[in-house]
Amino acid sequence: MELLKRLSEAAGVPGREEEIREIIKQALTGQVDELTVDRLGNLIARKKGQGPKVAVAAHMDEIGFLVSHVDEKKGFLRIEPVGGFDPRTLVAKRVTVHTGSGPLVGLIGTKPVHILTEEEKKKELKISDLFVDLGLPGDRVKELVRVGDPVTLRQDFVEVGELVSGKALDDRVGVYVAIEALRRLEAHRADIYFVGTVQEEVGLRGARTSAFAIAPEIGVALDVTLACDTPGVEAHKQVTQLGKGVAIKVKDSASISHPGLVRFLVGLAEEKKIPYQLEILPRGGTDAGGMQLAREGAAVVTLSIPTRYVHSVVEAAHKQDIRAAIDLLVAFLERCHEVDLRL
Ligand code: CO
Ligand code: ZN
Repeated sequence: MELLKRLSEAAGVPGREEEIREIIKQALTGQVDELTVDRLGNLIARKKGQGPKVAVAAHMDEIGFLVSHVDEKKGFLRIEPVGGFDPRTLVAKRVTVHTGSGPLVGLIGTKPVHILTEEEKKKELKISDLFVDLGLPGDRVKELVRVGDPVTLRQDFVEVGELVSGKALDDRVGVYVAIEALRRLEAHRADIYFVGTVQEEVGLRGARTSAFAIAPEIGVALDVTLACDTPGVEAHKQVTQLGKGVAIKVKDSASISHPGLVRFLVGLAEEKKIPYQLEILPRGGTDAGGMQLAREGAAVVTLSIPTRYVHSVVEAAHKQDIRAAIDLLVAFLERCHEVDLRL
């Protein structure tokens, strides 16, 4: 889990994935036949084979912010989100502001409860109300920070019981599954492209352009999905449950999985006794949605890692589900030349 820790703690807001990309590149060096970076910043690793052409996508980016304004007097920063945050998860958090001259620690502060009026207590919290405190005078902040500098949340990656928890498990856990699977992969006929995609959180952008270039017949996205198996959520709204295995996605709001791929994956999981669950996510999408619509289209599916508290810094996944995702991906890549894609 040392690698997953490094991936989780690395920075990479949409469009600024350089730090996380470098870590993935290092991890894949020597494991693949080709390793390239395209114009948008997607990292593309190939393990050659006769075919079919398969693209496996996991997004490198994490939800974060860009500095939108620097207060010249007091030095407080205003921030523009890149990706979908729940503002309630952001107060009282530490962040890193990635400036041209290096990283700075910042605080997302809030008014103490002691001075809140009844009206303020009821008011809905908006990201535009938040600010970052760098603990520096305004003129110093103005020298160091520029509009557009990336801001990421700070959080240690830790083990919690049978779970792992940290920031950006969405989708560093997907990246981890891909790296581990590529390392373990033995005989395969498929021509395999792993894509560490950029800008998923702002609209599956890297997946679309990289799939255009690769032109895969089959696309597999690796991403987290909701596990709302927590107090107060009815069984039919939980989407998935932690510890019940890798989720084979049937549908979300960006793609409908190819039924032949779903059938094939279910068959493989049963044959290899890999725990799995079937998933329908009512809202949200993965890179499968981008790959499916590139060029004349690809047959796609998503293998999801069930995750609690998605889009917060305590995202949590079960170690057994992560293992199941790696096992199923390895089995799929070794056998996917057998899949029947006729509808
Ligand atoms: Co996400
Ligand atoms: Zn994701």
